[in-house]
Amino acid sequence: MRLSPSSNRFLRIARVAALAATVALLQGCYWFDGPQSTFYPEGPVARHQLQLFYLTCWVCLVIFVIVGSVLAYAMLKFRAKDAEDAKAHVPEQAHGNPLVEIGLIGASVLALVIIAIPTLAGIYYSFDVPVAEKGDAYEVTATGYQWWFKFDYKTEQAQVPDATGKLVAAPFSTANELVIPAGRPIRVNLRSVDVIHSFWIPKLAGKVDMMPNRANHLWLEADKPGYYWGQCAEFCGESHAVMRFRVIALSPREFNDWVAAQAAPARRVVAAADAPAPRAQFAAYRTFKVNEAGTTAAFDASPFAAWHQQQLPPAGEDAALIDKGRALFNAKTCSSCHTIRGDGYLGVVGPELTHVGSRTTIAAGLLENNPDELHRWIHAPNLVKPGNTMWVKGYVANNIQLTAEDEDALVHYLSSLK
Ligand code: CUA
Repeated sequence: MRLSPSSNRFLRIARVAALAATVALLQGCYWFDGPQSTFYPEGPVARHQLQLFYLTCWVCLVIFVIVGSVLAYAMLKFRAKDAEDAKAHVPEQAHGNPLVEIGLIGASVLALVIIAIPTLAGIYYSFDVPVAEKGDAYEVTATGYQWWFKFDYKTEQAQVPDATGKLVAAPFSTANELVIPAGRPIRVNLRSVDVIHSFWIPKLAGKVDMMPNRANHLWLEADKPGYYWGQCAEFCGESHAVMRFRVIALSPREFNDWVAAQAAPARRVVAAADAPAPRAQFAAYRTFKVNEAGTTAAFDASPFAAWHQQQLPPAGEDAALIDKGRALFNAKTCSSCHTIRGDGYLGVVGPELTHVGSRTTIAAGLLENNPDELHRWIHAPNLVKPGNTMWVKGYVANNIQLTAEDEDALVHYLSSLK
């Protein structure tokens, strides 16, 4: 069969398109393996979801190839071959073929059934921890706030000094970093205090909405110890895009050590009575460009190693400066919104900060937790997270001003809270 010039052009375009698609797909194998990729799951729930995605893709691909082939065949075979052809009358129209029509309905139903059965099984599977594993499940409650995540460890108890200094049991929560034991199913209760958020850890599980006045839940499991990125996946206001969190999965022994460290009151660095005056180090802080990334390349290369490093006290702490920061935390009314167990601060509006120095990130997973970024956040939180409560209802409403020395003291105090 000889092809007309227009068919040749069509084939040329088709070849270029096929080549471009292949290059894009091959590149995709590399591009798709980011920290929030669902194509490289690291837990059973995400793996289940990926298999379902692939099955749906295969069914659609088969339909696409069949329909596309028939269409291409008809276009080539019955095209107008010359000017005479183009002016020809439309041939007599047929009125359908019952066999073909019923066959196509049957094929469509079959395709839907092939997708529907595993979909229903997947919904059932991801809804709750499998019965056989329920006994081994660990339970936490995640609560969405504009714009951060709170994690309550309902099976653990923290220690808080009472008025006499005696330690009493109290609830225990963290913020923006969910630490879990690897290899165990985790049941996550999902709550919201304000608007609808959505809880998603692409490599582990999700997405399920966190609804006001509704108790949702999901479960997840990390195959092995590691560091995972999470993200709010439902538009929830102006800083939705920067409402992130991290999941750190630890071996059982490391997890127990972490729980014991978190349950303890805040680490307390106190200056000796004859200590020298605080050193001012604020001049060393750098300024950031608008929208500059909040993590360094070194941190992104091995965040799990960074997490382990972050558990250790920083070198060269200035106890006098930390003392000053502790007092300022109250004087500047930070304490009316944040809890720091052991230092007498029990605010519940914002994230608990008892061990904030041991987290790898601040500002809901957006900024790396180092003195520069902590200073950036405290100095002007609205530039990092527009509309956030700390700025609008804290600084602005209470006319809070921080000098460079104040900011330096607060950075040192918060960094000391391991
Ligand atoms: Cu919370 Cu989007």
